[in-house]
Amino acid sequence: MSEAMLVCLCHPASDRDIDAVIDEGARTVAEIGRKCGAGTGCGACVDDLRDRLQAKGAGTLTACSRDCADPLVPLRSRP
Ligand code: FES
Repeated sequence: MSEAMLVCLCHPASDRDIDAVIDEGARTVAEIGRKCGAGTGCGACVDDLRDRLQAKGAGTLTACSRDCADPLVPLRSRP
């Protein structure tokens, strides 16, 4: 088994922690944030969180509409 890789530095969470949260039902970056805090700091890990959701077939969030009020979606994803 490979070593765990730290995904979120602001709220320390490893790839295994994130996968566990997804396995427990998280389907969006916001849900991951609510469950373990990952992605709720600087936002640098949000793309990685999204990649993990997609790799596990658990998420389809790719962009935010202008009406989105989710503070966890990074500004660079907004139109
Ligand atoms: S590295 Fe995850 S929120 Fe900053």
